[in-house]
Amino acid sequence: KQKTFIFDLDGVIVDTAKYHFFAWQNLAKSIGVNFTHEDNEQLKGVSRVQSLELILGLGNKKATQEEKDIWLVQKNEEYLTFIEKMDESEILPDVERVLQFLKEHNQKIVLGSASKNAKPILEKVNLFRYFDAIVDGNDVSKAKPDPEVFLVGADKVYSKPKSCIVFEDSVAGVQAANQAAMLSIGIGEQNVLHEAKFCFTDFTKISNEFLLDLINC
Ligand code: G6P
Ligand code: MG
Repeated sequence: KQKTFIFDLDGVIVDTAKYHFFAWQNLAKSIGVNFTHEDNEQLKGVSRVQSLELILGLGNKKATQEEKDIWLVQKNEEYLTFIEKMDESEILPDVERVLQFLKEHNQKIVLGSASKNAKPILEKVNLFRYFDAIVDGNDVSKAKPDPEVFLVGADKVYSKPKSCIVFEDSVAGVQAANQAAMLSIGIGEQNVLHEAKFCFTDFTKISNEFLLDLINC
């Protein structure tokens, strides 16, 4: 059988979630907003523009469009200084084993990320070659939990949503997958990602047998 496996990027393939957090926290500090690790959960999977809106909301802070534009650039510039230093060593455990296994079994592999930096990151960590299609923040207008990013991904490889399996580390992403009527697999904490059909702390917990079951279900 052939299924389509859609991977989120940040927090699923690479641990860039920590870099997003550092950069947002520094920005928040510079504009006088208190932003904690707990608050950060809400930002995962959410677009850059919407992340800033959430942070401003936390601090009850009003800002002009001009200020917002400056802050968005500031945040991304700091984030990019982390990205520039990335290499294969930052691929999360067993991600490549899973990608290889799916490739060997002729499965379709798609990236479904809200990030506008997705392509350079995949190139940095040398995983670009595994993907049959890439949908990122440059291709969609509606942010997760809207299912657009995953539906466009499925379309690009001529798959029906019900033949798609989504790996996600964010609450918004799991909701997007569910809304797309795809099978959602949470990568992270079960108590946070309780809306996912299955949840694993990381890919080391996902066996080849389980992947075969997904392919054949
Ligand atoms: C991902 C991350 C978010 C990030 C968003 C936009 O979904 O989980 O934390 O804000 O992408 O990323 P970008 O690289 O375009 O700022
Ligand atoms: Mg993510």
